Amino acid sequence: MSGELSPIDKAKFVSAKRAAQYVEDGMRVGLGTGSTAAWLVRCLGELVRDDGLKIKGVPTSSRTAQLARDVGIEVITLDEAKWLDLTIDGADEFDGDLNLIKGGGGALLLEKIIATASDQMVVIADVGKEVETLGAFPLPVEVIPFGWQTTQALIEETLISMDVLGRTSTLRMNGQTPFVTDEGNHILDLHLNRIGNARQLALVLNQMPGVVENGLFIDICDTVVIGYGDGKVEVRDINEGTVATERLDFVESDNLFSDLTE
Ligand code: A5P
Repeated sequence: MSGELSPIDKAKFVSAKRAAQYVEDGMRVGLGTGSTAAWLVRCLGELVRDDGLKIKGVPTSSRTAQLARDVGIEVITLDEAKWLDLTIDGADEFDGDLNLIKGGGGALLLEKIIATASDQMVVIADVGKEVETLGAFPLPVEVIPFGWQTTQALIEETLISMDVLGRTSTLRMNGQTPFVTDEGNHILDLHLNRIGNARQLALVLNQMPGVVENGLFIDICDTVVIGYGDGKVEVRDINEGTVATERLDFVESDNLFSDLTE
């Protein structure tokens, strides 16, 4: 089955597989959302099933909750867990300080709450997600449906005084209707091209009425596990200041490579 995977899927898979090594017996683990995080959930499911790994997972979306249950991971709520040992999640972009853009999958609100409530956040990503400066990926901002067009206008007006290159935004759609998040909100994607001061922008956006949360994750991620299409994995730890490279054996596994829904 592995021969059917594209290099980018292989890269996502090896980063997820390597990150699964952070998970230990008894941990409460935040489970991310997206195609890379789906690999992680499958890897953890295999460890639960085959190696008897005992964990409780707190999913960052209804999609991930479904997948986690499907692969045999015990799912609990954040209120039941109260605090997490570790969250492992994907990202749309990461920079050299391990600041992130997230929310391409629309789950940024729960992702940020859960990552913030964790002792450690590990990001899993293919090498294409690394950027020098955040902002090429449109920045998702979750807004409440009430008055969203007014909120959008306010955001665009505020962007005039921000250090960004683009200032337009679009309402995320799901076919003909606005995309609705797990919490019943909408997403505005901000086309900024380059974000000069991500910390300032994140603070300003979250001060606006109507804005629930933005997809900038500043000082939340501790470690990034970067996957390459040839099986190479690079682990960067921002706290330790370490960078380590290894190569993962790409073992074919029908259980992992079939029926992937993300
Ligand atoms: C979900 O809302 C996002 O934050 C994802 O973590 C992000 O979009 C990465 O997704 P992929 O792993 O599918 O690229």
